[in-house]
Amino acid sequence: MKAFKIIEWLGDRIRVIDQTRLPHEEVFLELDDYREVADAIRGLRIRGAPDIGVAAAYGLALGAQTIKTDSKDEFLAELRPVGETLSSSRPTAVNLFWALERMDQVAQSGEEVSQIKADLLAEAQRIEAENDEANRRLSEFGAELIQDGFTVLTHCNAGSLATAAYGTALGVIKRASEQGKRVMVYATETRPLLQGARLTTWELLKENIPVTLITDNMAGHFMNKGEIDGVIVGADRIAANGDVANKIGTYTLAVLAMENAIPFYVAAPVSTIDLSLSSGVEIPIEERSPDEVTSIQGLRVAPEGVRAANPAFDVTPHNYVSAIITEKGVIREPYVERLGKLAIENNTG
Ligand code: MRU
Repeated sequence: MKAFKIIEWLGDRIRVIDQTRLPHEEVFLELDDYREVADAIRGLRIRGAPDIGVAAAYGLALGAQTIKTDSKDEFLAELRPVGETLSSSRPTAVNLFWALERMDQVAQSGEEVSQIKADLLAEAQRIEAENDEANRRLSEFGAELIQDGFTVLTHCNAGSLATAAYGTALGVIKRASEQGKRVMVYATETRPLLQGARLTTWELLKENIPVTLITDNMAGHFMNKGEIDGVIVGADRIAANGDVANKIGTYTLAVLAMENAIPFYVAAPVSTIDLSLSSGVEIPIEERSPDEVTSIQGLRVAPEGVRAANPAFDVTPHNYVSAIITEKGVIREPYVERLGKLAIENNTG
């Protein structure tokens, strides 16, 4: 689906597609202020864990360009609120903090301010390029798990839009399809914000991959009828023990998959693994406005005054996860040892 770049650096600004306007309109936003980038992430115009990480890195590079001092200390002092604004945009996807941490290390280790600014931009571009490479590699590994004729269920959107790259869960499906395997997809609509209905179907139609849209509450029915061969989702954060935070409703799908003896796969780059958290209980879960639940696309569906809850993510315990597909290979239990080893290998190059 690479007709356009999901995030494009234009020299002094970034150009992104507004994901809240899809699939009806392909509207592009040009953002030249880091606060606009943070707002776009908060408002889900830029969304999906890896995409948020890449955008935040560019946001920091943009913020750095506008700082007018030659003193490194002053520069770092002015850069701090830029990082804080970006990191406060959303709490769950660890890729955001991971990317900003990488950017911070570059800023700290430089000497001349002008050089640090150039290095920050180069680092953002490296994060974007490495992310695409990781997506492609994990998709290659994941495609091995998909047999010709498989029907795969996916939730939310973990494709190019969510990654500014090839895609993770959808990358696996795309790669299997490119290999000539006949793959069919069931896409859950993903209430409350309909990333599955609006974005996943849009991407798969563009890729000519057969897709059937279902409402979230139909998944069990189709699993029980034997129509689903596997579930593949992305992730926003994976704890050291393999517990996975992903879009609300993922846990329900994992339980249903186990009940129906269907493999449940999580596809994510190593940058989504957070070894500082021993289990999923510690993962911060974003609570969004109840308006997203009481309304659908701006149309009120619930009575005025009703209380509504809106956790944006849930945690799937690792015992429901058949495998985690990363760019370093397909990881299975015991996750504690294997994820730890993998992240250490990744850091030591
Ligand atoms: O709230 P969103 O749309 O940013 O949530 C996105 C997801 O939950 C994705 O499944 C996850 O970030 C993986 S994207 C490759």
